[in-house]
Amino acid sequence: MTLRIVPIAADHDLSGFDCGDLRRNHWLKTHALANRMADYSATYVGLSPDNAVAGFYSLSAASIARQMLPRSLRHGAPEPAPMIILGQLAVALAAQGKRLGDTLIADAFKRTIQTADIVGCGFLGVHPAEPWLVRYDEQFGFKLVAGITPALMLISIRRLRQILPASRS
Ligand SMILES: CC(C)(COP(=O)(O)OP(=O)(O)OC[C@H]1O[C@@H](n2cnc3c(N)ncnc32)[C@H](O)[C@@H]1OP(=O)(O)O)[C@@H](O)C(=O)NCCC(=O)NCCS
Repeated sequence: MTLRIVPIAADHDLSGFDCGDLRRNHWLKTHALANRMADYSATYVGLSPDNAVAGFYSLSAASIARQMLPRSLRHGAPEPAPMIILGQLAVALAAQGKRLGDTLIADAFKRTIQTADIVGCGFLGVHPAEPWLVRYDEQFGFKLVAGITPALMLISIRRLRQILPASRS
């Protein structure tokens, strides 16, 4: 299935969305648009050809204390180091099993690089809520940071630019 991934808008029908995770369903229906309007997070929805919301993710700004960075990522980083958090990734149950999450994450990588071109930012992070999500996020190059609660995985923007070289503007 091809997804058209666009910023969340008031005319998207979110009412029937169900990814199997009640908190994510609730967040999408209750907070995603409000947070967009208030500039706290930017949510992008993946629309199927019939314009149903098949998945979504959000991006927001954050920072991490330099000393929390793994040694391999610390060199040259400022205090604190700016990053972006990829949160709330979900695919509707009816659309799961086709790796649409990969499509959403690739879109998040592209938008993160575009953001880093404008504001400067060292890392993209995710908070895996379950152990299996650590393995899931590792597939995309995220590495678990030791000693942080809630769990945090990072990938450097430098690495994203290597993965998606054409995205540099
Ligand atoms: C995470 C998510 C977005 C992936 O959706 P998707 O792209 O349709 O994923 P697929 O079903 O195609 O599976 C992708 C991989 O994840 C694995 N996976 C999916 N659900 C899993 C589960 N509950 N437990 C363990 N592994 C799982 C699959 O086995 C597959 O790996 P493989 O290719 O090595 O077999 C989707 O499972 C989801 O929306 N979950 C509910 C919300 C959630 O937990 N979000 C957290 C994301 S940070």
